[in-house]
Amino acid sequence: MPRAIDWVDGRIRLVDQTALPRLTTVDITGVDELIDAIRRLVVRGAPALGVAGALGVALAARTQKGADLAATADRLAVARPTAVNLTVGVRHAMAAAPDGPGAVLAAALALRDADIAACHAIGDRGADLLAQLCGPRPLRLHTHCNAGALACVEWGTALGVVRSLHQRGQVDLVVADETRPLLQGARITAVELAAEDIPHRVVVDGAGASIIARGLVDAVVVGADRVAANGDVANKIGTYPLALAAARAGIPFVVAAPETTVDPATPDGAAIEIEERAADEVLAGGPAWNPAFDVTPADLVTAIVTEERVWRPE
Ligand code: MRU
Repeated sequence: MPRAIDWVDGRIRLVDQTALPRLTTVDITGVDELIDAIRRLVVRGAPALGVAGALGVALAARTQKGADLAATADRLAVARPTAVNLTVGVRHAMAAAPDGPGAVLAAALALRDADIAACHAIGDRGADLLAQLCGPRPLRLHTHCNAGALACVEWGTALGVVRSLHQRGQVDLVVADETRPLLQGARITAVELAAEDIPHRVVVDGAGASIIARGLVDAVVVGADRVAANGDVANKIGTYPLALAAARAGIPFVVAAPETTVDPATPDGAAIEIEERAADEVLAGGPAWNPAFDVTPADLVTAIVTEERVWRPE
């Protein structure tokens, strides 16, 4: 599996996530093309969006500088609103702009490399935590959306934890919600798990809570698009019901995310902008409402695992 996002021959190379499970890549040479790819979810997942933002600035810095570059960076940063990583990536690359295009590219590539390292650290720390919370035995884990290699550069956050546990022989089963309406679970998570021979089953989103209530999973592990300063967690719509069900069943609800997803400037979940996507994605054939994310209050979160810490919000 190629990297979800990379810099190849002076272009941004993306695995086209709209085409999965068919594996194709697209090369991006301009910022408008990149903004379109972000909006269509050709590249998606908070950490991958952060790297996309940084590499997008690197593309723009080849032909623009000063106020023009800043205006382009601002447009890129708001291509999608919920994942804070996109803004973080754009700002990270823009900080190098005074030193010229070479410095911007170096900063963007450093962010890419830091994301890879962060995911491996999150995977190991999350695996340690789950072994401690549930016992060092093969676990049945429930996940939502795709917080895997394809949502990052490689390895993944929530699926990074799954991968680390799998390497230790401690995965019995992964239950993957299909994740309506765009099926990131059925199309992307399932492909990643199958590629590694990790036992898994895809379930319809509506089955999630009752699977937890029936005692069929030991823990929930998900990614995040933004973690507020108080520990509230925005993630793909359908995450919050899993947190409610996990609390009711008394099983851990663990969030795996890099520090770049934690936003100290967002005080709580109410301050997080929830992306509203086009009604036609819901395919209801009539009026629809398509919020792409929900917020899980901090008190339902057992722990947020980053590359630096295990944070147990109040
Ligand atoms: O709309 P998407 O597919 O970009 O939503 C992605 C998610 O909700 C992920 O769980 C989140 O970004 C974490 S990715 C490591």
